Amino acid sequence: MSASPLRHLGDSLADLDRRGLLRQRPEPVDRPPVDAMLHLCSNDYLGYRATGRLDGYARAAVAEHPTGAGASRLVAGEHAAHGSLERVLARWLGVEETIVFTSGYAANVGAIAALAMEGDVIVSDALNHASIIDGCRLSDARCVVVPHNGLEAIREALRSTKARRRWVVTESYFSMEGDSPNLAALRGICDELDAVLIVDEAHALGALGAFVAGSAELCRYLWNRARSFVFSTGLSPLLAAVAEGAVEQAWADDLGRSRLQQVSERLRAGLAAHGVVVANRRGAILPVVLGTEAAALGWSRALREQGVLVQAIRPPTVPAGTARLRVTARADLSDDDVGRAVDAFGKVASTRVI
Ligand SMILES: Cc1ncc(COP(=O)(O)O)c(C=O)c1O
Repeated sequence: MSASPLRHLGDSLADLDRRGLLRQRPEPVDRPPVDAMLHLCSNDYLGYRATGRLDGYARAAVAEHPTGAGASRLVAGEHAAHGSLERVLARWLGVEETIVFTSGYAANVGAIAALAMEGDVIVSDALNHASIIDGCRLSDARCVVVPHNGLEAIREALRSTKARRRWVVTESYFSMEGDSPNLAALRGICDELDAVLIVDEAHALGALGAFVAGSAELCRYLWNRARSFVFSTGLSPLLAAVAEGAVEQAWADDLGRSRLQQVSERLRAGLAAHGVVVANRRGAILPVVLGTEAAALGWSRALREQGVLVQAIRPPTVPAGTARLRVTARADLSDDDVGRAVDAFGKVASTRVI
């Protein structure tokens, strides 16, 4: 019998393992022992998952909405819950219309690839999320990658191109860096040089990243041209109804936002007091850049022994040589939780080289 035509997969996995880059299926976060740990690596910034605040919406939705859409929304999968969620999102954001995809990944890939065409240029931040990069790759446009948050590089790239249409794509709060471009200045540059600005809000708007907001014409275009929307079964109507509840909660949740800011600041100050360098100054994402994969994995393991869950983030999620812990705050964390987290970091920092 001949050798398996898939034998290279094993070689590839062995190579990742040698380089400290192999990912394993993690233990479930809702089962022992992980459920009892203090979780500091989620996107649940307002704490709705952790506190079960949306469970009531889910129970109500079960009675009224089917679990699956049944088909692409354009075929026979359009349900009342979809339009209802899209209208609430549009009212919240003050835009004409929104279009909900099944995930943020699908929204970025579908929208960017549908909008940017042959003969266009996309100016893309070097640290944009993989879903943005894949959207650029799938489009027929030429992509110019500019240094992270480099406004002058964006201006130069737009100035020096003769492309028919120009697009600039960035994130409003970068998921691994916890920093932001100067959006007002960027808006000015795009207006001046006739470029369309696409901003991924996945980590700014409370991890509700799976939609595109804009004009009615833009949304109508995506209904026709975004392949990850047209050729994919619609979002579960049950989930759409729960998401609508999440939007209503988040819209009104100024208290949650101010608590999130307080928790972030206390964590940041607590880590700094133990000599742990946090690479940014604001927001709910606190990157602790450690460099090597081994260092990030070692810190993650040591924190876990202290009952704190912070997964190591390694390339290709972040650039080579910048493996890190991505510590995230949540609005529902108590002062005791913050104290526990800071103490755990203190213990680990005292036994490891920072
Ligand atoms: C900036 C950014 N955009 C898009 C996504 C993808 O969103 P989703 O998880 O809904 O697919 C993520 C992360 O998951 C992200 O960090």
